[in-house]
Amino acid sequence: MRRFIVVIATLAGLVSGQAAAQSLVGAREWLLPGSLSLENLSQRPDERLEDGRNFYVAFGRLAFRAPDILGGTARKAGLSCQACHASGFATHAFFIPGLSDRPGRIDVSNAFWHLRGEDGIDNPLEIPSLRGVKTKDRFGHDARTASLRDFTRRVIVMEFAGDEPDALLLDALVAYQEKLQPADETPQPVTLRQDLADILGHLDTLRVPLAEENAALAGRIATMIRGQLGFIHERFADEDMRGSRAALEEWSRRLVGIADLAEAGQWPQARQHLAALRAAIAAPPPAFAADLPRSLYDRTRLAAWLSKPAR
Ligand code: HEC
Repeated sequence: MRRFIVVIATLAGLVSGQAAAQSLVGAREWLLPGSLSLENLSQRPDERLEDGRNFYVAFGRLAFRAPDILGGTARKAGLSCQACHASGFATHAFFIPGLSDRPGRIDVSNAFWHLRGEDGIDNPLEIPSLRGVKTKDRFGHDARTASLRDFTRRVIVMEFAGDEPDALLLDALVAYQEKLQPADETPQPVTLRQDLADILGHLDTLRVPLAEENAALAGRIATMIRGQLGFIHERFADEDMRGSRAALEEWSRRLVGIADLAEAGQWPQARQHLAALRAAIAAPPPAFAADLPRSLYDRTRLAAWLSKPAR
């Protein structure tokens, strides 16, 4: 534990006012300067999932990337499982001043994340790769947990102050992690193309609760997808990138509309709207191509953005 971090983070929160729960802006507002790394934000390892994806795997994949399943500072800073375990590998450059002693190591039992999890020890741990986690029978540095499901619940509730996960969320996170077969780590650049392809995949996941006519689950998945759209939106940071920003905002609103239709029991319309949204995102407007070189998908622009102090 380092108590000053809690104080500084609280002050940062007060000064910056409302915190966006998003990976670039949120992290800059809620984590200490020096926590964001160009390497982590501009590349991620190729994912290479084992074959055989069902709804559980797909929902788990989305939840693994969704800060809203966590609570406290992690959620405010827009950190998800993916931030520390990028594509299921260890994020070697992950570093938060005061909570890390070296890159790739972090104190997860710290009041910074969750007051209840604070153990009074300054104990950064190596972030492990989750590749091949399916074949393990003990989890954590002290091998204290014998079940991936229990460990995952612990991470959410005790380390990162999230709400108690329900059975479906845990089943999904376990199913996804079990698809993380051992693989060579091959970094790939973070691209708009890949991020939009991921959104299309997530929209396919949303088809399941719309087919099942499960409004609560549809609403939950729609919210998670909107969070992912928000991450893309942050990369089009300049106000003058109106075309790209407006398209992303419109897609996000359309997801709200789909969740509302589900809530109202208007299933055929909800399904039609989802199909139309999918078609729109599959053929994004030309504004994206125009804005892309100036966006934070560009490594040089991102480096310049990271070097600017937070507001
Ligand atoms: C801030 C960084 C961070 C985040 C966010 C994070 N983890 Fe971890 N994870 C760690 C660290 C550090 C360890 C090592 C903890 C230990 O050894 O007790 C770990 C350990 C694990 C392990 C044990 C692996 C093994 O081989 O023993 C699993 C499983 C895991 N995390 C899954 C998750 C899931 C699922 C999420 C999201 C719900 C998540 N983690 C979020 C840093 C993180």
